[in-house]
Amino acid sequence: MKTQTAERVVLAYSGGLDTSVCIRWLSERGWKVVAFCCDVGQGEDFGPVKKRAIACGAEKVIVQDLRAPFAREYILPALKAGAIYEGKYLLATALSRPLIAKALAETASREKATAVAHGCTGKGNDQVRLEVSLRILNPRLKILAPVREWEMKSRQEEVEYAEARKMPIPPKKDSLYSLDQNLWGIAIESGPLEDPWVEPPAEAYRWTKDPAKAKAKAQIVSIDFERGIPTAINGRSLPLVELIRRLNRTGAEHGVGRTDLIEDRLVGIKSRELYEAPGATILHAAHRELEQLTLDREMLSFKESVAPRYARMIYDGLWFTPLKTALDAFVESSQARVTGTVKIKLFRGNCFAVARRSPYSRYAKAWATYGGEDAFDQKAAAGFIALWGLPYIKK
Ligand code: ARG
Repeated sequence: MKTQTAERVVLAYSGGLDTSVCIRWLSERGWKVVAFCCDVGQGEDFGPVKKRAIACGAEKVIVQDLRAPFAREYILPALKAGAIYEGKYLLATALSRPLIAKALAETASREKATAVAHGCTGKGNDQVRLEVSLRILNPRLKILAPVREWEMKSRQEEVEYAEARKMPIPPKKDSLYSLDQNLWGIAIESGPLEDPWVEPPAEAYRWTKDPAKAKAKAQIVSIDFERGIPTAINGRSLPLVELIRRLNRTGAEHGVGRTDLIEDRLVGIKSRELYEAPGATILHAAHRELEQLTLDREMLSFKESVAPRYARMIYDGLWFTPLKTALDAFVESSQARVTGTVKIKLFRGNCFAVARRSPYSRYAKAWATYGGEDAFDQKAAAGFIALWGLPYIKK
């Protein structure tokens, strides 16, 4: 890892203790460190983060606002595909990683760096997602993962390392939990959650109200879609980032979007994670509802079979792969009719569609009605039934 000449490395920097120690650890090994912060909507104040990076020994800090491309190029395809991992996880963390990898690779070439670095441990999914993406995007870049290599085993040892070097120590995060958040949701793990038999303590959840304490009055939001893309709330057009933020706020008020999941990590470990994703939960429910109205049943059922596979590719770090590109083409083509409006009711942790309409609706009242205006030929059913059951009848 030691280098003679001062080569440059671009480090994905969060401002936390791990990546702050990474800056120093890398510079002690001869690297010039560019600290790179991605704004994916984590709501961080980057002012102090930038100062800290320099105080830890970074040559330069870059903050990039990636919220709009995150929403458009990563969140949106996942929404259109109905991507939900293991039935519950809407993939907030996982979706941000290919974007961060791409931004790291681009920054490395702009800054004439020969390497990139990250602060992931050797036990998680994120190291895999970042590194697989980086290698696909630029196989010549060296990838450094200090946390996986150094011998420090605890937060305490890292604090001692920082103190011995008179580095600024990031303010201790308020909690026992490990958090990761962005525009699409928050992931909460470790501490008391490591026992799967322990109910999440009330303070573990960050974004959403306890459904039991949410308003006793239901609220309805209507969401417009154009070709699978959410474009307006209650008739008001909004840019995607703003639309998601608003639904996060409204959903959170009603305790919508909590999940508690024992999930399968890529590296074989089962782990327990809580998620809060109010906006994502509402949008998935609304989008799915509109598909139910506008897609024919073959398209719906095939698309339903693609969704978990697509979700697993995101989870497993396979974003920049040929199959993912091919599935995107299918999903995009499936969205041609997914235009219309869905009304979603929010009530004490619940979120469900109560009304839907579309210029491309496949619902025909004239066929469905039990009223007088019936256009459905009931006599034709007899012949249909005779042939449909034929394969199973003994002659
Ligand atoms: N388990 C989630 C994933 O692999 C989230 C990982 C980050 N979680 C955290 N609490 N720091 O995508």
